[in-house]
Amino acid sequence: MLSEKIETALNQQIELEGASSQYYLAMASWAETQGMNGISTFLYKHSDEERMHMLKLMKYVNERGGQAVVPTLKAPPKSFKGVKEVFDLVLEHEVKVSTEINKLVGICVKEGDYTTQNFLQWYVSEQIEEEALARKILDKLKLLGGDKGNLYLFDRDLETLAAAEAEAEGA
Ligand code: FEO
Repeated sequence: MLSEKIETALNQQIELEGASSQYYLAMASWAETQGMNGISTFLYKHSDEERMHMLKLMKYVNERGGQAVVPTLKAPPKSFKGVKEVFDLVLEHEVKVSTEINKLVGICVKEGDYTTQNFLQWYVSEQIEEEALARKILDKLKLLGGDKGNLYLFDRDLETLAAAEAEAEGA
C-alpha cells in the first residue's frame, strides 16, 4: 500500500510525464509543418515513449492500492524558433525530469518505501539514456552547422535514429 505522500508524489510525476508527451507532440507537429519529416518522426516517437512512461506509473499506483489521476495539462507551445531551440528544450526538459525522479527516489528512501524506490530504478536508468541521447543529437546538430547548416542531413539522420530505436525495441 502506498503512503499518501508517495501517492501524491507519483501522481505529480504522472503529470510531468504526460506534459512531456504533449510537449514533444507539439514539437513533432511543428517539425512536420516545416517539412522536416525525420525530425518529426523522431519526436512523435519520443512523445509516445513519454506516454508509455506515464502509463507505467499509472498502473503502478493503481496496483499498489492508490489512485492514478489523469492530469489536466497546459497547452504546449505551437511554434519554435528552429531545430536548435527544439533540441535545447528537449535536453532542458529531460534534465528537469531527471531532477524530479531523483527527488522522488529521495522521498521513497525517507519514507522507507523500498518497493517504490526499486520500481523507480527503471526511470533513473531511462533518464540517463534520454539525457545522453539529447546531448548526442545537439552535438550532431552543432557539427552540421546548427539551424543554418545542413538540416537535410540532420533530418535524415534523425529518421535513421528513430528507425534504429524502433527496431531495437522490437528485438
Ligand atoms: Fe519520461 Fe523523458 O521523461
